[in-house]
Amino acid sequence: MKTPLRVAVTGAAGQIGYSLLFRIASGAMFGADQPLILQLIEAPIEKAMQALQGVSMELDDCAFPLLKGQVLTDDPNVGFKGANWCLLVGAKPRGPGMERADLLKDNGKIFIAQGKVIDAVAADDARVAVVGNPANTNCMIAASQAKRLPADRFTAMVRLDQNRAQAQLAKKSGKELTDVKDCFIYGNHSPTMFPAFQHATISGKPAAGVINDNAWLQGAFCETVGKRGAAIIAARGLSSAASAANALVDHVHDLMTPGTIHSVGVKSGGNYGFDPNVWAGMPVRTTKPGSWEAITTYAMDDFAKTKIAATNKELVEERAMVADMLKQG
Ligand code: NAD
Ligand code: LMR
Repeated sequence: MKTPLRVAVTGAAGQIGYSLLFRIASGAMFGADQPLILQLIEAPIEKAMQALQGVSMELDDCAFPLLKGQVLTDDPNVGFKGANWCLLVGAKPRGPGMERADLLKDNGKIFIAQGKVIDAVAADDARVAVVGNPANTNCMIAASQAKRLPADRFTAMVRLDQNRAQAQLAKKSGKELTDVKDCFIYGNHSPTMFPAFQHATISGKPAAGVINDNAWLQGAFCETVGKRGAAIIAARGLSSAASAANALVDHVHDLMTPGTIHSVGVKSGGNYGFDPNVWAGMPVRTTKPGSWEAITTYAMDDFAKTKIAATNKELVEERAMVADMLKQG
């Protein structure tokens, strides 16, 4: 029997939490032979902690063999203690008419506090995945607070965008989803993100050739993927939750699976012309469980370079908006 992994999840009683926890406990994230202890963290609000009790009762009632324990807390010092993975979901979602960056002033503060505590009390091998929006910049804020954990342990989720892009390519081409590969996401989890269709394949052939509609790829495709979150809010009245939880399962699962190439928001290091100190989506290869290296060899045409410049500009602007938060590191 393996030693249980300690998985801390913030916002555990929220929408995404309700779709996520059961998938983690069932083994979808870390595998069918990996026992877990879930460390569930909520805001210090009576209603949220009460809802968390209910979620925990349902986890019990699922009788998941892998779930070896649950910690329920509103104290991050307790919730992140010894955690091997810290999944930072808890934050305000946007409503209709808002952009994700509008959340920065409120949500950014959460990630200052959590980044500090994680650095102080989480396990030596701790990894952090940020979902709360705006995810890239919140991830940068959390990482800026860390003195012990290196920056490459902090990743932001852009996997929902990769899944959305690949689903759109499958629909347009009439092919199976499993035929569509390698549509990686560059930049910010925002409408400026760039889903690089140039490198995607469908049934092993370049997607652009199979689809044979460059105007659609450069126009409607990029726009649909970039604005999908807003379209879901407009239709559902609430931001995406089940698909976001599913994407986080994919994000962590693939970061634990050596050899996998997938889109992750990481400290850019200057790759693809991004500012070196912003967290930008790009393809990475998982090297060993929890570790990755950026794939830097994809060639970019003029269209791609323009898109990357625009999403980089937005990331740099977001960083300027939270400069005061970064100084607290
Ligand atoms: P929600 O409002 O349903 O749940 C958020 C939960 O977080 C609430 O239960 C709240 O009490 C809790 N919370 C707030 N502050 C906290 C703190 N300091 N510590 C612990 N818990 C805290 O929201 P949701 O729909 O679950 O979305 C959560 C976040 O994820 C939002 O910011 C949303 O925009 C974002 N999101 C990101 C992506 C992505 O692809 N990166 C996709 C979907 C949603
Ligand atoms: C999404 O992409 O669905 C989420 O980031 C929620 C949002 O605000 O769009």
